[in-house]
Amino acid sequence: MLPSSDQNEILKRRTFAIISHPDAGKTTLTEKLLLYGGAIHVAGAVKSNKIRKTATSDWMEIEKQRGISVATSVMGFDYAGHHINILDTPGHQDFAEDTFRTLTAVDSAIVVIDSAKGVETQTRRLMEVCRMRKTPVMVFMNKMDREGKDPFDLMDEAEKELGIHCTPVTWANGQGLKFESVFALNNRPAELSEKLQEDLEMIDGVYPEFDKEAYLRSDLAPVFFGSAYKTIGVQELLDFLVANAPSPLPVTAEERIVEPMEDKFTAFCFKIHANMDPNHRSCIAFFKICSGKFLRNTYYYHVRKDQQMRFAAPTCFMAQKKETVDEAFAGDVVGLPDTGNFKIGDTLTAGEKLHFKGLPSFSPEMFKYIDNADPMKQKQLEKGINQLMDEGVAQLFVSQLNGRKIIGTVGQLQFEVIQYRLEHEYQAKCRWQPLQMYKACWIESDDDAELDTFKKRKAQYMATDKEGRDVFMADSAYVLSMAQQDYKHITFHFTSEF
Ligand code: G4P
Repeated sequence: MLPSSDQNEILKRRTFAIISHPDAGKTTLTEKLLLYGGAIHVAGAVKSNKIRKTATSDWMEIEKQRGISVATSVMGFDYAGHHINILDTPGHQDFAEDTFRTLTAVDSAIVVIDSAKGVETQTRRLMEVCRMRKTPVMVFMNKMDREGKDPFDLMDEAEKELGIHCTPVTWANGQGLKFESVFALNNRPAELSEKLQEDLEMIDGVYPEFDKEAYLRSDLAPVFFGSAYKTIGVQELLDFLVANAPSPLPVTAEERIVEPMEDKFTAFCFKIHANMDPNHRSCIAFFKICSGKFLRNTYYYHVRKDQQMRFAAPTCFMAQKKETVDEAFAGDVVGLPDTGNFKIGDTLTAGEKLHFKGLPSFSPEMFKYIDNADPMKQKQLEKGINQLMDEGVAQLFVSQLNGRKIIGTVGQLQFEVIQYRLEHEYQAKCRWQPLQMYKACWIESDDDAELDTFKKRKAQYMATDKEGRDVFMADSAYVLSMAQQDYKHITFHFTSEF
């Protein structure tokens, strides 16, 4: 076990992500939290973090902004005797895969909902990941200063659409132009309007009291109302989070469960941020520390490479500044400068052979064949594709029928990113050929004979992912549902980890 001073450091940590549909107010809320933490001093400081709406079709511009956002990848600050790490998630939906992976590195999440729009698509998808991982979530109903949906309807919608029981912790005094303040339900104002009295009776009759255990089991989401823009209801959220959100949780590795208080350091890589400047082709590999303490210039074991490595310039993220750190604790994220040593999912330890689980790939939504457009540069192309896939830019499948490479992404932008980076970083040229495809499903069965038959019958739709697993490439929802009907002993998974 770690010495108690180090254990206290770990207990002080709250590492979470803020997730939402674009425009619900994630950036504004993040900024207000940073203001409370004294990490920034003026509103507007976090704006650079956001991918501007005007730039949605210009990915080069987006990448530039993503470059800026390295510094805001993790926003650390101290508040009320705690150390907060907010992990940023890209707002652009073409980078949803980055967000999914970031969610594997947090101990809890705040879901921001625009009270006029309710639960939107991106929020629903991100919540699915939280549910899958049993991540405790809190809900912030934002923009109460605008005319929006009725708070009770919002509660119903959140329960239904997010698939989790909800209970309010604060309640809004008014809405739209009449919105003035929020109050904690366990500390109600003496004077209540008739409407509020009715609301409270209803709340008392319908919602259970907040139950911390249920929240930590991810069975119950506490709900807050407010306006990030007007800074109303934000401190209530932050204070509640500090008091109730989990400090770093145990993490499951293939070999065993790793407890944060173990004295031996362990960490896994959940994100690689490439530098888009071709003159400085280094990356930053982001590692979430799962246990113990990380020290600068100390040898650690890179499990996949079976090699000892040490890091002279690890960075930590305080507010918006990147700083070299000498030590970091379980719950923290360290950025390690990298020149191609790391892949998403890599593990660093103090010597133990550990493999962390839970970095699933999700079925991509767009697929294209990638072909070599410059026969002299075949090797460069191979290398480029492999490295970009290791960084998690997209997923590679190889057709079992003809050996052709298929790239799967969640958005068109990634194809452009890949093409550009292959040309500029690897001097290789590629050509795309569209592929009408619905989903990639990882298949599994206890019935070897049925699996065999399926693979033979569907040979032209079978591919292999980069780990060598069988993937069924369904070209339409209909084909997939027929396959599910006909092959009852085969399970079709939409994520690579099941
Ligand atoms: P995002 O990161 O989730 O995409 O959202 P962001 O915080 O950028 O907020 C999106 C828009 O919603 C911004 O307006 C922001 O000012 C506004 N907003 C955020 N929270 C609230 C709130 O509580 N009440 C109201 N009324 N508006 C809110 P914008 O016009 O797009 O940008 P800006 O010109 O205000 O910067």
